[in-house]
Amino acid sequence: MTGVGIDAIELWTGKLRLDLPEEFAPAKGEDPEKYTKGLGMFSSSFPDAYEDIVTMGANAALRLMERKDIAPEDVGRIDVATESSWDKSKPISTYIAGALEQVFDGDFTHANKGERKFACIAGTQALDDAYNWIAAGRNRGRGALVVTTDTALYERGDAGEATQGAGAVAMYVSEDPDVLEFESSQGIGSLDETDFLKPNQQFPSVDGKRSVQVYLSRMREALEDFERNAGDTHPDEYRFIPFHTPFPSMVKKAARLGFRHMVRNTDLEDELAPAIGQQPREAEYTDWEDYEEDIQAYMDDLTETDRYREWYDRVVDPTVDISHEVGNWYTSSVHIARLSALKHALEEDVDLAGEKFLVGSYGSGAQAEIHEETIQPGWKEEISQNNVDEQLDARQDIDFAEYEQVHDHHNLKKANDLEPFTTPDGEFVFDGWGPMGERQ
Ligand code: HMG
Repeated sequence: MTGVGIDAIELWTGKLRLDLPEEFAPAKGEDPEKYTKGLGMFSSSFPDAYEDIVTMGANAALRLMERKDIAPEDVGRIDVATESSWDKSKPISTYIAGALEQVFDGDFTHANKGERKFACIAGTQALDDAYNWIAAGRNRGRGALVVTTDTALYERGDAGEATQGAGAVAMYVSEDPDVLEFESSQGIGSLDETDFLKPNQQFPSVDGKRSVQVYLSRMREALEDFERNAGDTHPDEYRFIPFHTPFPSMVKKAARLGFRHMVRNTDLEDELAPAIGQQPREAEYTDWEDYEEDIQAYMDDLTETDRYREWYDRVVDPTVDISHEVGNWYTSSVHIARLSALKHALEEDVDLAGEKFLVGSYGSGAQAEIHEETIQPGWKEEISQNNVDEQLDARQDIDFAEYEQVHDHHNLKKANDLEPFTTPDGEFVFDGWGPMGERQ
């Protein structure tokens, strides 16, 4: 079998933009640096009145299919990953397929459609499903359309409100892909957790501080599981390491954990030892809290080294470029991080063909997953056709009062009329219940 992976990627941002230091911070009576320096966020994307998870997902998929000249006949599977669905029966992929069928000559009658749910990690799980379906030889030469789409909204006044966002990513998974191939090794860290959940409710019940610790614990377990599966890793083995990014500063915490983990038993640990000592070994401790204290102190010292800073700036920082400006897109978040890295490499004229990415996905509830990807020679041509910057620049700024109206409008319990802030431009729009996703 030839390699399987991502052949094309497209993004669709919610068309409104809320500036956090200028609008959100003064309205909340907070220091703007809490958001810019503390969380690493500058602005968030929100859906306009006529946008929802279907229109954003369908618009991303349409751009991808038109640009790559992919017909419905070429697509054997459509999986949507979302945690914002309002339909407990029909998967969102059926609505998106219905919208796309209004544009293309053919239809998706033959395509297997589903919806994946496990908080933010569901997008990566949908990619896994596509990979397994192709690897099993059931695809009959067709590819899989994977769409991640969310309106990531929190209750107003919740600490998570600052991290909100809305948008979609469409990815085409195929044999002999242009952008990257998935490697088969994988690591999982998974445990039943209740720090972030939405039982029959639109907005999450979230214990924010604990959610950060749960993210890190599952990510550590996934790294350990990955190494049991694939062998020891080294920080310099990977050109980029995109992590799930609920807000960019979370990635700083994940990166230092990852670096510490990968440094263990390498030449790098010995190289750094004269300055910061050897890494504490769990097996040498009888008390877990003592070990935790010492490992935290080691990590603090490690992150102060020039070697760590250079690594972070080169391997991780470019993955949060888009996230700074759009907020948490839940299922799309790690896929935006990968796209950020690819876009950065394009802008810096770096040749990535043959380079490896280590991808750290996460979903509350809770599960982390680590896998490797190898970048393919066609990546540059493909990524140069994305219009991420144009989409982000075209967003309409809203002030805080307008943001509250937008938030109310997208609260499923409140049906209020909101005049759109922007004008649709050859895209699918939500125009009420009934036939959905009309293209204007
Ligand atoms: P908070 O209480 O608003 O903020 O909650 P804080 O007071 O903890 O401050 C945040 C950081 O800013 C801190 O840094 C402060 O020191 C710093 P840290 O200690 O973390 O290094 N800070 C400042 N820095 C500079 N100047 C200042 C200043 N003030 C404060 N003036 C919290 C933050 C993340 C808890 C909140 O935003 C939240 O609840 N978010 C939602 C949950 C979340 O995103 N959790 C992340 C892990 S779980 C996850 O990723 C899954 C998820 O995507 C869902 C899914 O999977 O479906 C959420």
